[in-house]
Amino acid sequence: MVNIGIKKQLIFLDRNENNYGPAPACKKVLRRRSNGFLNIYSRDFTRGVKSVLSERLSQDTGIPESRILLGYGSEDILKQVVQCYLKDGGKILIPSYSWWYYKKIAAEASGVNIEYPIIEIEKENRFEYDIDILLKTYREKKPAIILLSSPNNPTGNRLEIKQLKLILDNTPDCTVILDEAYSKFDPGFNVNAAEFVEKYPQLIIIRTFSKYYALAGLRIGYALIGARHEHLQLLSTRYLGFNRLSEQIAIAALNSSDYYRKIQRKMVQDREMLYNEFNALPGFKAYVSYANFILVRIPAEIKESLQKYLTDRDIIIKFMNEDNLNSHVRITIGTTSQNRKLINAVRNFMNERSRS
Ligand SMILES: Cc1ncc(COP(=O)(O)O)c(C=O)c1O
Repeated sequence: MVNIGIKKQLIFLDRNENNYGPAPACKKVLRRRSNGFLNIYSRDFTRGVKSVLSERLSQDTGIPESRILLGYGSEDILKQVVQCYLKDGGKILIPSYSWWYYKKIAAEASGVNIEYPIIEIEKENRFEYDIDILLKTYREKKPAIILLSSPNNPTGNRLEIKQLKLILDNTPDCTVILDEAYSKFDPGFNVNAAEFVEKYPQLIIIRTFSKYYALAGLRIGYALIGARHEHLQLLSTRYLGFNRLSEQIAIAALNSSDYYRKIQRKMVQDREMLYNEFNALPGFKAYVSYANFILVRIPAEIKESLQKYLTDRDIIIKFMNEDNLNSHVRITIGTTSQNRKLINAVRNFMNERSRS
């Protein structure tokens, strides 16, 4: 439950936040930090690094600190990359089904959006990237940037390592962004970032503390960048440092891997539970997901009444309104009790409907 003010507690399952909340060690940082911390700039720059956090991420990933950029969430990193590489009329390739912000970002740099397909594999309840068309579009349109997302929001599908290599081997002349906002919810996730950014100079991997680490309100994201992006590195530099409290909280999260792994396990089980429960309901179709959300097609005729029914019960999920994705809902995997409440409410709704 998220307390949004004085009136009532709503269950937010609409924006892919992590409702378990951050590790206890993160909250401890807030209690501990006081004098001599907030009133001074960090001195990290004089030690030749950006931040204690980029230093730590460098140790964890094996990527040189200079090639780790920090931002105000991964949204900010995306903006930095687009501002750096997308010039007037320049093109960015984005997935046809994607986080809504991808569709807006080109306009911020007077660039042009071109969509490449993510296709539904009807019989297998899943979506996948159409790599052939993606590469064909790259050859024809000569974009400045290709944006990939794995797992992809809202379809939940991931890129396999082989597919990622195929894309990178064939797109040497543009910047390739791989958005990994949700990758840590996939226990099978195995992209070796150090190996990839070493081999592919065009690559920029974007990650965030918002989702897996349950720190969306803190606004911290980071990028692991290939060797070609020296100019982006310059642009991204903040000589006076970063938010010192956020740096410490993020490090506390990195130190709490047991806590987060336990949550990951619960979420994977609940994702499976929701997948099975929704697929057992007549007229519903849940799709395979590797993220902390699941996409479900619902009978078109219940869209408005279901939305009202759930809202009346303080449960908020995302009702999709996109071309070809408009009788679908995207449900964030919440805590186990929230997930149960949701599926029980949907079942009750369907039972009441069949009786009336
Ligand atoms: C695919 C994807 N990337 C990035 C973000 C932004 O995350 P943040 O700016 O909190 O790091 C989101 C947010 O929902 C997202 O869905």
